[in-house]
Amino acid sequence: MNPLSAKDHLPKIESAASAAELDAIEQELFGRKNGVVTLAMQGLKDLDGDAKKEAAVELNKQKKELQEAIDAKHAALRNPSDDDLATADKIDVGLELPSKDRGHHHLVPEFIRHIEEVFGRMGFDIASGPEIESEEYNFDLLNIPRDHPARDGQDTFWIKRENADDRDVLRTHTSCMQIRYMRAHKPPFRALSPGKVYRKDSDATHSPMFHQFEGIVIDKNISLGDLKGTLITALKELISPDITFRWRTGYFPFVEPGMEMDVMWLGDVSDSREGKWLEMGGCGMVHPNVLRNCDIDPNEWQGFAFGFGVERPIMIKHQIPDLRSFYVGDPRFLRQF
Ligand code: PHE
Repeated sequence: MNPLSAKDHLPKIESAASAAELDAIEQELFGRKNGVVTLAMQGLKDLDGDAKKEAAVELNKQKKELQEAIDAKHAALRNPSDDDLATADKIDVGLELPSKDRGHHHLVPEFIRHIEEVFGRMGFDIASGPEIESEEYNFDLLNIPRDHPARDGQDTFWIKRENADDRDVLRTHTSCMQIRYMRAHKPPFRALSPGKVYRKDSDATHSPMFHQFEGIVIDKNISLGDLKGTLITALKELISPDITFRWRTGYFPFVEPGMEMDVMWLGDVSDSREGKWLEMGGCGMVHPNVLRNCDIDPNEWQGFAFGFGVERPIMIKHQIPDLRSFYVGDPRFLRQF
C-alpha cells in the first residue's frame, strides 16, 4: 500500500449509509488477511533504514485517521443528527395540537362527596352497604308490614333466590342501612350512608335508579328539633342559604312521628316550576320497633333518621327541570357544571 492512498478511502467511509456498509468498508481496510491497511503494514518489512521508519510513521498516522473516521461514522449512524431526525421522525413533539377537554366528576358523585363532607363535619360516620338486599332488611326489620304498598310489584324490583322462600330486592331505599349500621354499632352514633336505590318509576322527577342519602342519629335526649336543625343546616349549605322549605307529616312505618320535607324551586326553572315545592325526602324519630330489631333499648336510646334524594337538591341548586338529564350522558348537559 502506498501510505498516501489511505486518504482515498475517507470519502467512502463518510458516505456509508448504514452500519452494515460501514462494516464492509472496515473489513476491506483492516481485514486480517487482505485488508488494505494490513497488507501495507506487512509491506513495511521490505523497506530499510530511514525509508522504513518514515513509511511506518506515515502509515500509522493514516491508519489512525481511518480508524477514527470509521469510529466517528459508527457513532453518527447510531445517533442521527437533528437534520436526519427532521425527516425520519414523523412525530413532532413541539407541534401544538388542538387542546383536549379535561374531564370532571359527574354531578351526582360530586354532590355525594359534598354531602359526605357537610355531614362529616357534623360528626357523621360514612357507611355503605349492598344494593341487593334481602326482603328482611329492606322491609321487615324496618317495621314495614307484609301487606304495605311499598312492597307492591309496582315499585319494587324483585330478585328470585334459588331454593329459598325469602326474596331479594334491589333496595328501594337506603333505609336498610339504618338496620345494618345499628346492628354493627353500639349507640351513641351518627351515621350517613349515600348510595343507589331502585324503583319502577320514570318521569321528570323519578328515575328507576336514583340516589339517596340516609342518616341516622341515636343518642340520649334527641328530639325532633335536632332533626330539623340538622337538616336545615345541611341543606342550606348543600343547596343555597336562600332556600325556603316546609315540613309535612308523612307516614313511614319505621319512624314515629314521620315527616316529609319540601324545598321550593329557586329562580326560573324552564317549565314554570317557580313557586312550586319539590319533595326532598322523608324523616322522623326512629320507631321503637326498629330499635328493638337492632337490640337497642328504646327506653334508654332514641334518635332520628332521614332518607333524602341526591338528585333532587341538585335539581333545585342548578335549576334542572328533568331528573332524567342526569343519566343520558349528554356532554352538552354535563359540561355546564
Ligand atoms: N326511606 C324513605 C323513602 O325512601 C325515606 C325515609 C328515610 C323516611 C328515613 C323516614 C326516615 O321514601
